[in-house]
Amino acid sequence: MSQSIMVNASDLIEQLCEKGWFYQQNVIPGEWVTALADLCHKRTFLQAGIGQGIKNIINEAIRSDSISWIDPQEKDPAVVYYLALVDEIKHLLNREFYLGLNGFEGHFSRYPQGAFYKPHYDCFAQDKRRAVTLIFYINQNWQPENGGQLCLHLPEGKKVIEPVAGSMICFLSEQILHEVLPTQVERMALTGWFVRHQGQDYFYS
Ligand code: OGA
Ligand code: MN
Repeated sequence: MSQSIMVNASDLIEQLCEKGWFYQQNVIPGEWVTALADLCHKRTFLQAGIGQGIKNIINEAIRSDSISWIDPQEKDPAVVYYLALVDEIKHLLNREFYLGLNGFEGHFSRYPQGAFYKPHYDCFAQDKRRAVTLIFYINQNWQPENGGQLCLHLPEGKKVIEPVAGSMICFLSEQILHEVLPTQVERMALTGWFVRHQGQDYFYS
């Protein structure tokens, strides 16, 4: 299975710079989407919380998805593929921007029927480590009537993004207010953040 990057690098850089976000379809080839979706169905998930560390609390009025953190040492070929893709994008961003990205944290997410995530930023008030959000969607045969779109709240209005299999969205975590609209069917994604930090090298908090 091919592992070469299928992201339009110059568009990614230009659009992140100009608008703060970039979306592209067909980034992950179909066979890897299948492998990642199969793996997603086999993993153990925990109800997602809001906030961080001891302040992490479950509030289903704000978000009702479940998550499964990825360990960077995982050996499943689909995870290895995903982490290689993430790494290529990290190098691309570090080459073009002075973001000083030196870590990554990512998880699978599963939204059961009816689940959503109300408008939020991906940065925590006390912790600005998250610089760039990177999401890949792995929903095969996704239909517009399924709902579950990612909605970006932009200065010029709302931009609705379909979470179709193989597509990718990348945005500046501090700048883009966004939400996941209620989904009518199970919705799966790989969600991650490039982080910047000084001092000790840690991946997950
Ligand atoms: C998140 C999030 C959006 C999506 O997990 O913080 O906003 O489209 N996800 O899954
Ligand atoms: Mn988010």
